[in-house]
Amino acid sequence: MTFKKTAGILTGAALGCAATAASAQSVEVLHWWTAGGEAAALNVLKEDLASKDIDWQDMPVAGGAGEAASTALKARVTAGNPPTAAQLLGMQVREWAEAGALGDLTSVAEEESWGDVVPAAVQEFATHDGAWVAAPVNIHRPNWLWINAKIFEEQGLEPPTTWEEFNAAATQLQEAGITPLAHGGQPWQDTTVFDDVVLGIGGPDFYRSAIIEGDPEALSSETMVQVFDQMRTLRGFVDENFSGRDWNLATAMLLNGEAAMQLMGDWAKGEIVRADMVPGEDILCVPAPGTDGAYLFNTDFFALFDVSEDNRETQQELARSVMSPEFQKEFNLVKGSIPARTDIPGDDFDACAQTAMEDIAEAQENDALLGSLAHGHAQTSAVQRAIFDVVTEHFNSDMSSEDAVEELQIAVESAQM
Ligand code: BGC
Repeated sequence: MTFKKTAGILTGAALGCAATAASAQSVEVLHWWTAGGEAAALNVLKEDLASKDIDWQDMPVAGGAGEAASTALKARVTAGNPPTAAQLLGMQVREWAEAGALGDLTSVAEEESWGDVVPAAVQEFATHDGAWVAAPVNIHRPNWLWINAKIFEEQGLEPPTTWEEFNAAATQLQEAGITPLAHGGQPWQDTTVFDDVVLGIGGPDFYRSAIIEGDPEALSSETMVQVFDQMRTLRGFVDENFSGRDWNLATAMLLNGEAAMQLMGDWAKGEIVRADMVPGEDILCVPAPGTDGAYLFNTDFFALFDVSEDNRETQQELARSVMSPEFQKEFNLVKGSIPARTDIPGDDFDACAQTAMEDIAEAQENDALLGSLAHGHAQTSAVQRAIFDVVTEHFNSDMSSEDAVEELQIAVESAQM
């Protein structure tokens, strides 16, 4: 594949001039950060660029985990009218890079030593054929269980560490008339939960072979039957209006005490903070049952499209902004994630983010840092979509676990072809 090579590297002074001279610079950015906490985080970037005299043209496409945004982006690129930049998850970066659609950020990355501060697992998605093709904004952890502390205290419950404990706590909550699990029935949310259950029941090695490698034996194993059994049990713990609900509305149920728990990535923390609640105190954060010591991750990247001469300086400035230590800190404080740079001190972050920073280091050492399937870091879009379909069909029907396992294996196999 070919990349358009960027010519020289801009010096700080040259950039300053460029920014003042051409106040008409603008970037059109396609993204899916439309929930309250997400929009607040995005504002940090907009303001940062405004201070450099770069105008932000917003192209928001609502829809959690970026499914709708991905469709919109494809349509724009196919029509020959790509945005300046787009928010992408890891596998999307890889697929767009393979299609030769992304701008090359290598000169900026080398000048600013991104290679020294971005964890290897993230670099794997940010680079293609030895070139940097995307700037990582953050690291999210999708395998969190969020708990309404007041409800748990009133019920005399402890945070569950296994699925058995989870089921026991949820049954008690249900008997007390409280919805145990805040959930939104959308394929990506169902699969966020599924990822947790696969990891929690099977452990890191099983997750790796079944989900990342798509190994047919793991996919059709007895362990996978148990995973679907647990998914069926979870279906009994959600309220009757769960279908189609957006994730942030499910988080709102957790915050206002309508539900006791939510299995969701730490973008939920953006909502917690906005509601003036304290993560780790009012809303507890613990690893999803059975996943202590392991870390599912996903990173939001910005990648550059429409790489014309006219745009290049502004685009590179966008990449510089995203990777600056100040921005990484300010943005992630609001977004709920941790920085994509390892050189940002955790002191100003909340208790959950500090735990995340410790846990990611531990997981990395133990070979238990794993890409999230639901959030585009485990499989190609085609295989991901095939798994979404089976998980969601199972969750919304009375399909047996054995049938689900069989369908899963067939779906993955045909999507791999
Ligand atoms: C993204 C997050 C986003 C979440 C909900 C994830 O895939 O990485 O940035 O907040 O989806 O839309």
